[in-house]
Amino acid sequence: MLIKPAPFLKGEVHIPGDKSISHRSVMFGALAEGLTEVTHFLQGADCLSTIDCFRRLGIEIENTPERILIHGRGLHGLRPSSQMLDAGNSGTTIRLISGILAGQPFSTSISGDASIQKRPMKRIIAPLQEMGAKITGRDGSSCAPLDICGSALSGIDYHTPVASAQVKSCILLAGLYADSPTSVTEPSLSRNHTELMLSSFGAQLKCQDTTASIQPDPLLKGQKIEVPGDISSAAYFIAAGLLVPNSEILIRNVGINPTRDGMLRAAAAMNADITKLNVHYASGEPVCDLLVKSSSLIGTTIEGNLIPALIDEIPVLAVMAAYAEGTTIIKDAAELKVKESDRIEAIVSNLKAMGADVTACDDGMIIHGGRPLHHAVIHTHKDHRIAMSFAVAALCSEGGAELMEAECVNISYPEFYQHLRSLS
Ligand code: S3P
Repeated sequence: MLIKPAPFLKGEVHIPGDKSISHRSVMFGALAEGLTEVTHFLQGADCLSTIDCFRRLGIEIENTPERILIHGRGLHGLRPSSQMLDAGNSGTTIRLISGILAGQPFSTSISGDASIQKRPMKRIIAPLQEMGAKITGRDGSSCAPLDICGSALSGIDYHTPVASAQVKSCILLAGLYADSPTSVTEPSLSRNHTELMLSSFGAQLKCQDTTASIQPDPLLKGQKIEVPGDISSAAYFIAAGLLVPNSEILIRNVGINPTRDGMLRAAAAMNADITKLNVHYASGEPVCDLLVKSSSLIGTTIEGNLIPALIDEIPVLAVMAAYAEGTTIIKDAAELKVKESDRIEAIVSNLKAMGADVTACDDGMIIHGGRPLHHAVIHTHKDHRIAMSFAVAALCSEGGAELMEAECVNISYPEFYQHLRSLS
């Protein structure tokens, strides 16, 4: 797909539902007693994979454009699937469900696409085995397909080496089925949607600093959930509004949970003109509208505890850095290598193809910004965030860019190109 340069961007965008929160609404709704009603659910391929998995585990889910209804069967109501579960491209689906499946009185196998089969699962296999779970990767590996033979679980106090909400949530969900409390301590705090939403369903969870603890066997009750817009999807319009000259975009309904808003903090350090309007709460999550105006960006350093709060926004922050004056250093972000693609490689090679001065490091990259970028063919590696980030890069380049396998945006933002076109 050819993305042409835009002289300006003006108008409003309504951001689709948050991917992390949409996944969790289906999972927790399935484990709750009674009906869970979810509005503004993200109809992206990843969240549809989660729906498909729970349908195969015996949960009735009605999916209409207005809302989804999950007919929960309680903590012990899942049924064995006659087929292997398919997580598609979704790391959240496979890692969170594995925690649930570890405590069931039946066996399940789960896999996903080529990307999922390469992603590290040892990070969930090791703590689940410590809890007594019988979970193995195929052929002695620690990669999907995973075979999970449900068993009795014991609570553990786990210190995870990576700040990962998928790992944390997997262990907390297994903790629902354990014989004693379970706690997870992270090196720095990752997104806390599981802690917030599972508590609202009735789980007994305590959070202190970077430790979350859960009591086993709660009575979970179906809830009404309004999913906020995904800040990770808003990020492309934030970047586009800042970079394209003479632009002003009102981005409606953006979740600004402090464990997710690192992009706004990094953008502020880069001299971005962003105003928060209409701040309010939806289903326990802070939400606002963002007014974004063209800005002259400067370089910054993105590191440490900030990384988990903007991990999915690093591709588009790197694009912003390439157009900013001065040097941007991104470090402590080795996790980028094990996302839907090796994002350090994907960002650096595509930015170089467009003429940027960028060097890859083991845990990030160094970008000397301010050079004009030119037309290139962009290899998205079927990674939705690479595709959308380079669509933004194309908007302010000389000659635009040709995105390969551009349809991969369906994973998290099916209407992305339509929304982008509506602003120019
Ligand atoms: C997610 C957690 C993050 C993030 C992913 C969604 C979640 O992954 O990158 O897109 O919903 O829990 P990690 O837990 O691997 O950091």
